[in-house]
This record gives sequence, C-alpha cells and structure tokens, in this order.
Amino acid sequence: MNQEIHINKEIDESRQGEATVIESSKEKNGKKLYVESYGCAMNFSDSEVVASILTKEGYDTTGDVDEADIVLINTCSIRENAEDRVRKRLTNFKNRKKRQPDLVVGILGCMAERLKTNLLEEEKLVDLVAGPDAYRELPGLIEEVGTGQKAVNVLLSRDETYADISPIRLDKSGITGFVSITRGCDNMCSFCVVPFTRGRERSRDPQTIYNECKELFDNGYKEVTLLGQNVDSYRWNMTSKGEIKDETKPTTNFAQLMESVAGVSPDLRIRFSTSHPKDMTDEVLEVIAKHDNICNYIHLPIQSGNSEVLKRMNRGYTREWYLDRIAAIHRIIPDCAITTDIITGFCDETDEEHKDTMTIMEEVKWDFAYMYKYSERPKTLAERRFEDNVPEEIKGARLTEVIDLQRRNSAIKNKAQIGRVHKVLVEGTSKRSKEHMSGRNDHNTKVVFPTGDCKVGDYVLVKITDCTTATLLGEITEVLVPAK
Ligand code: 5AD
Ligand code: SF4
Repeated sequence: MNQEIHINKEIDESRQGEATVIESSKEKNGKKLYVESYGCAMNFSDSEVVASILTKEGYDTTGDVDEADIVLINTCSIRENAEDRVRKRLTNFKNRKKRQPDLVVGILGCMAERLKTNLLEEEKLVDLVAGPDAYRELPGLIEEVGTGQKAVNVLLSRDETYADISPIRLDKSGITGFVSITRGCDNMCSFCVVPFTRGRERSRDPQTIYNECKELFDNGYKEVTLLGQNVDSYRWNMTSKGEIKDETKPTTNFAQLMESVAGVSPDLRIRFSTSHPKDMTDEVLEVIAKHDNICNYIHLPIQSGNSEVLKRMNRGYTREWYLDRIAAIHRIIPDCAITTDIITGFCDETDEEHKDTMTIMEEVKWDFAYMYKYSERPKTLAERRFEDNVPEEIKGARLTEVIDLQRRNSAIKNKAQIGRVHKVLVEGTSKRSKEHMSGRNDHNTKVVFPTGDCKVGDYVLVKITDCTTATLLGEITEVLVPAK
C-alpha cells in the first residue's frame, strides 16, 4: 500500500528525489552511480538493495548527480502526478545526454514495470528498464547498455524477496532504518496500480528479518520500520488459507514476527507500515500493547467512510468493520496514535457518500491523514469497471473539505499533548535552528526541543510546552540511559 510506501506510508515530501550514497566495498570499476528515489518507503528501501547489488560489482555511489556515469531513477506510479514528476526529471537527463552521450539513464520501480519498453523504445527517455523484481540483473543490464543492446527486465517473480541482500543504508543519521518484510500485494483494491507493478504478495524469511534488525541495532540503529503493502498478511510457511506448507517447520504470522523483532533489544524501537483494516487482528494489537518498544502508532488507511464506495473500491470491509477495528485499538492499546489515507472523488461518489467520509473523520479523529484526489490508473479494476466521472473541481472541493477538517483534528490532538511528557528518539538537528534537536515520539509525531545535553541516537524525555499543526515543541526533562 506508499503511502505508497505504499508502503504505503509515503515518504516525507522533503525526501522525494533523494539520492542514495554509499561506499563501494569491492574493487572499484571507476564508474559512479547516482540513485534517486520517489514515492513510498518501499522504493527508498529498494534503492538501498540496488545500491548494495551494484557496489558489490565495484560501482561507487555519488550524491552529486553531475559527476554520475549511471543515473537510476526509482519511480512511483500510484497517481498520475507522481509519474509526471518523473517524466520531467527524465527529460532533463535526455538533454544532458546531448552533452554527455555515454551517460546511462535507467528507470526502476513501478513506472518501469507499468510502462515496460515504452520509455525506452517509443519515448527514448531511458537506456535501461528494470522492474521491482529484476534488481539482481542490474549489473548485466548496465553491461548490455554498454554493448548497444536494449536493456529491459520487467519480469515479476513469485518468490523474490531479496532476503539475502544486506541493504546499504540510506538514512544518513544511522539511527532509523527500513526493513522489508513482504513484497507485492494480492488485495486488488480497484483504484490501485500496485498489484500490477509489484506483483504477487510474498513474505520474507523471518530469520533474515530478525538478523537484519539485529545487525542494524548492533551498528547503532535505534529504530526499524517493518515494511509491507499489507503487513497484517505477513505469513511464513502458511498458505493464504492458513494451511501449513511444511509440517516439520514452524509457521510465523505478523504478530509473531513483531514479537521476535521486539526481542532484539528493548532499546530498538519497532514501527510498521501499512496495516490493513480487513486483516488487522487483536493478536497484533496485543503484541503492540505488550512491548514498550513497539510504537503505539498504527497507519490504517480507510480510503472512504461510505460502505458502498468501499465495496466499489474492493477494500474488503465496511464502515462498521473499520469502526470496530478502531474500537479494538482503543480497547487494547489505550494510548495509540492512528493515521489514515483518504481518497476523494472516487468513481460515482455522490455528495452523500462524501459526507460519510466527513462524519467518520469527526468520529475517529485521526491524528494525521494523507489525503488524495482519485487519479485513474490504467489497467486497474476501477478503470475497467467504472467511469472516472466525478468532475475535477468536485474532487478538489471535497479534498479541500477533508484537508480542512483533518487540520482541525490534528490541531486538537496536538494541543492535548501540551503538559505531557513524551519519550523521544533524537534523530538530528532541527531544520530551523542549530540549537534545537528533533525526533519523534512513540506516536510518530515530530518533537523539537533545545539540544541541552543530548545527542543523536539518545532517547530523551521531553515535556511538551507548545505545538504547531504538525510538530510538538518542548523541553528535555531527562536523557535516558540505555538498557544493558
Ligand atoms: N488515486 C488516488 N490515490 C490513490 N492511492 C492509491 N491509488 C490511488 C489512486 N489511484 C492512495 C491510497 C493508498 C495510498 C498509498 O495512495 O490512499 O492508501
Ligand atoms: Fe494497498 Fe490496496 Fe494498493 Fe494493495 S491494492 S497496495 S492494499 S491500496
């Protein structure tokens, strides 16, 4: 699910287009690689896998696009504007190739998978195309470009999880990292292109997930985010119907996986994204409640507050079911932040149906929401079955209403934190002031405070004194000593 990241949680706007820079581990081949990522956290995580594969082949990565011999753009197809942005970027590189003819430009990720050879053959914007399951083939594909061949691999796999590849970390602070636990998606929400671009859902071996989290912690990381389009459908050694595949081996579900990862260390914070209302079990909520180091934060996209729209979206739940899951969260994890995704103007959405989204927003009062106008995507079920018939201005007006209401809700939630003390993981210096640090609390809200005696990677207790729409402001009351 992008959020995009899905993953669905989409990456912070400021990180869109960020480059992955790493040190080469093997004998260098003198070529400089620049990888740029768009879209969800899964794409950013995949770029780390790509960087790992290519540095093993002797490439050096660079953060300076102007000195690159090879530029790889990891792309997102979730909405049309995400693709437009990438197209513009590719056009820039096409112009640069007039000056630097041996520059290799490649496209990775969802747009590569969706458009296949189009960008290479028809639009002549790129030299290389690799879909999300073809990254192991990149060294060969780059070589093919060198010999003047068409370098394309968009084969989707039923079992590729890159489980054995130790990704090279993108996050420059060395404190927070992403760990993929599943790839692909089988849900077929009717608006969504992800099942077509990322293929069938598959889960990664739990031992390799544990090992990666442990390795991150041993290297100084303090937080991991477990990533999947739908983390609740993680399953190992089980079929989708719950049958055991190999009786001689243990099975693992998402609750058990989290339990195991939480055991790496009490000082390693665990986050996860994205949860799916149809699959999120009480067992998962109980594991979150039981472990202090699993954050009390759930991203639970609703998409619409109307059951008929949800049916057209093929989401697999109703308004009432979603509200039951919210009640379960409040019952089992009394202090839990909940965020969501909302789409306005889906096919045939009436004013009444839109009002149901407004009323459920009043009822649930999400801490934060990612809100979008519906954007029809080629080949999706909605494109084939329904007409994209809500006029653009109505989609926009509904979106504005939804955003305004969410702003008010977020402000209420933030104001309620004033006077409370939060445990915050210090992630870096605040963008606005060198005398301030910033980090996030258990609820995933950004907290900014004067630096005092703390450093990046510390856990601190912060008393909240003020807030803006998206940030809490406060003072450190204690720097916590790490557990042994
Ligand atoms: N149009 C608008 N928003 C979409 N999303 C997914 N597909 C579309 C689309 N076609 C949103 C959903 C999803 C998030 C990652 O992106 O809200 O949860
Ligand atoms: Fe998320 Fe549904 Fe898309 Fe899967 S099909 S990625 S669950 S929105």
